[in-house]
Amino acid sequence: MSYKKNRFHIEGVPSEKIAKKFGTPTYCYSYKKLRENIINFKKYFKSFRPMICFSVKSNSNVNLLKEIKKFGLGADVVSLGEIMKAQKAGINVNKIVFSGVGKTTKEINYAINKNIFLINAESQSEIIEIERIAKSQNKVVNIGIRLNPDTNPRTLKKISTGKKENKFGVDEKTFIKLVDYIKRSDFINLKCLSVHIGSQILNHKPYEKMLKVLDRVIKKSKYQFEYIDLGGGMGIPYEKKLKKLDYNKYNFAINKFLKAHKSKIIFEPGRSIIGNTGFLISKIIFIKDTKTKKFIIIDAGMNDFMRPALYNAKHNIVPSVKKNIFSKIKYEFVGPICETTDKFSSFKKFQKLNEKDIVVICDVGAYGVSLSSNYNVRPKPLELLIKGSKILVIKRREKLEDII
Ligand code: LLP
Repeated sequence: MSYKKNRFHIEGVPSEKIAKKFGTPTYCYSYKKLRENIINFKKYFKSFRPMICFSVKSNSNVNLLKEIKKFGLGADVVSLGEIMKAQKAGINVNKIVFSGVGKTTKEINYAINKNIFLINAESQSEIIEIERIAKSQNKVVNIGIRLNPDTNPRTLKKISTGKKENKFGVDEKTFIKLVDYIKRSDFINLKCLSVHIGSQILNHKPYEKMLKVLDRVIKKSKYQFEYIDLGGGMGIPYEKKLKKLDYNKYNFAINKFLKAHKSKIIFEPGRSIIGNTGFLISKIIFIKDTKTKKFIIIDAGMNDFMRPALYNAKHNIVPSVKKNIFSKIKYEFVGPICETTDKFSSFKKFQKLNEKDIVVICDVGAYGVSLSSNYNVRPKPLELLIKGSKILVIKRREKLEDII
């Protein structure tokens, strides 16, 4: 992912060549980067060899899941659809962890019927429902309870999940009560304490705080948890000015925690595995001049890539062909959707662009396609994977006929 002879390459392939051959907008992933991310993730935590369940919500492309599975990863899922996709990718049910605050009877039934490794329950009502279904299937079901540790993850407010005002998990008091309840149940086996405080976390300190809360709650519960599921949330530096998460420090804090608690660790990373592997290649349709800025209207819209509109998330945009002429006026990259929030990024200084030029939005591998929609009756984009010398179509471009 760099410029070679002034052309932006994804692995060895110039982005403008991809645009020409496959059209735009097109998502393009790098296998090399994916592999590197998984290997690094394992390395950071090698001292305790965690069970790693890839968070399918971040990217549910079955062909990518198949690649991820080859590295031995399991899946973190939140719906029946995600369970089925993980299964379709060949991920064994004994590596699937099922989370979410609103699991339906149908979903719980399916998970129990298929002997999913773990269901992380998020409320007392859910636990009662799991117990009822387990009894009806005459099974003992392994569950986790998700704790809400009331820890500020210091991330975007809209993707924060571990504060007491968030809907996720149960508070300390309820947690202890539920542990006691499950101890007496014949149909549920408490296997895990789970937690996930938020996403796009770049500072290790919230994780340290979270581990301190876990330490306290576990001691209070007087229960030996076989597994501690620490969720995901590890952020990536979307902007140059951002610093990477210090994995050494997080690893150190977990090792310290494990000295007091003899449990196995589960992680549910999404973004840190897939985020920086993806690029959205798009073509400039029109350029509109105003007194204060130029609107660069591209053919990808907020329906194709939602993060900037939804969270005000910042993503770098680069020209496919680099030139050394700069515009003196602000550029604002927008899509064609009839919404004011259909806006990607603004740049005070950017290379001069022309209509029909190709640009690339970076780091869109996580929560890119998985958050996309058919809004404005727009077909979903093509997805490609560059693997070695091959450019593989891993999801065909949706056709208008598919959605009309
Ligand atoms: N485990 C649980 C229980 C989660 O809720 C999530 C994400 C993950 C794992 C994976 O988190 P990650 O490692 O990817 O940060 N759409 C938002 C992010 C929402 C995350 C929701 N939960 C975004 O585009 O930033």
